[in-house]
Amino acid sequence: MVHFGLGPWFVRGSFLLRYNINMSEKYILEVNNLVKTYGKGDSLVKAVDNVSLKVKEGEFVAIIGASGSGKSTLLHMIGGVDRPDKNGGEIIIEGQNITKLNDNKLALFRRQQIGIIYQFYNLIPVLTVRENITLPVDLEKKEIDEDYLEQLIDALGLKNRETHLPNQLSGGQQQRVAIGRALFNRPALILADEPTGNLDSKSGAEIVKLLKLANEKYHQTIILVTHDLEIAKEADRIITFGDGKIISDKKAGK
Ligand SMILES: Nc1ncnc2c1ncn2[C@@H]1O[C@H](COP(=O)(O)OP(=O)(O)OP(=O)(O)O)[C@@H](O)[C@H]1O
Ligand SMILES: [Mg+2]
Repeated sequence: MVHFGLGPWFVRGSFLLRYNINMSEKYILEVNNLVKTYGKGDSLVKAVDNVSLKVKEGEFVAIIGASGSGKSTLLHMIGGVDRPDKNGGEIIIEGQNITKLNDNKLALFRRQQIGIIYQFYNLIPVLTVRENITLPVDLEKKEIDEDYLEQLIDALGLKNRETHLPNQLSGGQQQRVAIGRALFNRPALILADEPTGNLDSKSGAEIVKLLKLANEKYHQTIILVTHDLEIAKEADRIITFGDGKIISDKKAGK
């Protein structure tokens, strides 16, 4: 009589197989009905206008769209550096609704779970290359994984630059330090806003190669804002923004 008990499971299993549904796929990020407005009256701007999207663990997503379409505003809210409007939707990262966290908890969450790379490198000028990279781990008072640090510095092409200060580096090198800092504590989610915007195409391509490595080797999820369609094509998926809304969401890949 045991087979009666197994019946529903069998039916469910064959349904899942037939429709190729993978139950192990997990969403690392869910954005639901997100709204962010700036200003009032005539000068009111809906920078992010009721946006919903889901990103799977290990996905590499590129966001493109015209200047002023809301890409950075969205990324800042996902990264917990800015907040949506009151009752302006929710952002769930690894099951945690970050819109409900108070400022202190949000800052802690950001430091532990998210790596952010900005267009302007945001390095600490008085810290060396090595100290800038290890900063998030030092703040957590965690032990430095020296092997990984060496591997990362090597991959970043920053060997022999470890004790340099940011103002002793080129723009491309500074951006690579910022990427090292975002990667070093191995956050599950990496957000990058135009990380190649200030670089020549060769240095830009190197940055993208590093992000792809983080994505493919360490299975880190990446959301990358870019104006460069060639760079966007390196992602698994391209989301196009227009006027605060998602106007297309397509599979990419070369
Ligand atoms: N702090 C602010 N105060 C008022 N309006 C703002 C503020 N930040 C952004 N905006 C407005 O919100 C809209 C979206 O800006 P956002 O920076 O997100 O665009 P973007 O898509 O990142 O553009 P770009 O490609 O130029 O970086 C713009 O119209 C902008 O003027
Ligand atoms: Mg922007």
